[in-house]
Amino acid sequence: MNQSEWNLAKAAAQQGKVAIVTGANTGLGYETSLGLAEKGMKVVMACRNMQKANRAKEKIKDKYPFSDLECRQLDLSKLKSVRSFVKDFVKDYQSLDVLINNAGIMIPPFSLTEDGFESQMAANYFGHFVLTQGLSKLLLKSDKSRIISLSSIAHKQGKIRFDNLHSEKKYDAMAAYSQSKLACLIFAIELQRKLEQADSKTISLAAHPGVSNTELMRYLPRWSKLIAPILSPFISHNPKKGALPTLRAALDDSANGGDYYGPNGRRELKGKPIKIKPRRKALDVELANELWKKTEELTDCTFSI
Ligand SMILES: NC(=O)c1ccc[n+]([C@@H]2O[C@H](COP(=O)([O-])OP(=O)(O)OC[C@H]3O[C@@H](n4cnc5c(N)ncnc54)[C@H](OP(=O)(O)O)[C@@H]3O)[C@@H](O)[C@H]2O)c1
Repeated sequence: MNQSEWNLAKAAAQQGKVAIVTGANTGLGYETSLGLAEKGMKVVMACRNMQKANRAKEKIKDKYPFSDLECRQLDLSKLKSVRSFVKDFVKDYQSLDVLINNAGIMIPPFSLTEDGFESQMAANYFGHFVLTQGLSKLLLKSDKSRIISLSSIAHKQGKIRFDNLHSEKKYDAMAAYSQSKLACLIFAIELQRKLEQADSKTISLAAHPGVSNTELMRYLPRWSKLIAPILSPFISHNPKKGALPTLRAALDDSANGGDYYGPNGRRELKGKPIKIKPRRKALDVELANELWKKTEELTDCTFSI
């Protein structure tokens, strides 16, 4: 198959399989859940706001009345909430085929979470690290399961600042977002290394949507929201298309562990979902080891395969 020819219609039916999508109530997470439901997968919509989650579930049900959906409460910026989600999930489920670490926030005003983490690093990265670790036993015993982490074009500007990980010295909102998205990509690639070393059939992949007008843009300055309608046809695509790299990572039979999917257009802003290259920094083994160790220490969560 030509690299850019993949679409959802080409993906095999997924009846009997179970996925978790974090941040499933809106934007890309919603479109990803819709796509998985269309293929017959059971989708557990892991969201921080149950009202929003239930509304999104009803919307999918309206479209696919026979879809199998469940909403569960999960706040990724609170490790207590992540651990409680994991505890209940592993009690209730015997398998997990796809974990989509999608939820995220971008450039909010500075705040520290109850665990002492900068809020973007908390929700985008640390929460998903602990979630994946907690679910890893279940994932590993599920045949050919997949873990997908959401990165961003912004990872290209990202630096892991071990001396300012929680923006304690200085808060630059975009630098903290880019750091979190680089961390997500490093995590996806390092996790794949560990899975390979353990000879596991579970694979870890990453994806980014390009640019898509979603609620992620809520903290952008007013002026940029005013010019967005003029620019967006040239630099972005709708969330349905933005979700395709994630869906490809989750469903394409020819995908391999460590693959990174994004749009094929200019500067990866929009287009069809293809395999793309992460920045070299994201492949740095030494950096990955240091980040992994630091994350284990900060989250009090040992993650070995
Ligand atoms: N849109 C883009 O152009 C773009 C580009 C690159 C990467 N991405 C990545 O794509 C992913 C999805 O973003 P999006 O564009 O779909 O944004 P979105 O429309 O704002 O959706 C984000 C989702 O994450 C949830 N969320 C935020 N903080 C959470 C927390 N602490 N615990 C649980 N859920 C939480 C939100 O819940 P609420 O509805 O309750 O806020 C929402 O469901 C993110 O990881 C983002 O970094 C997006």
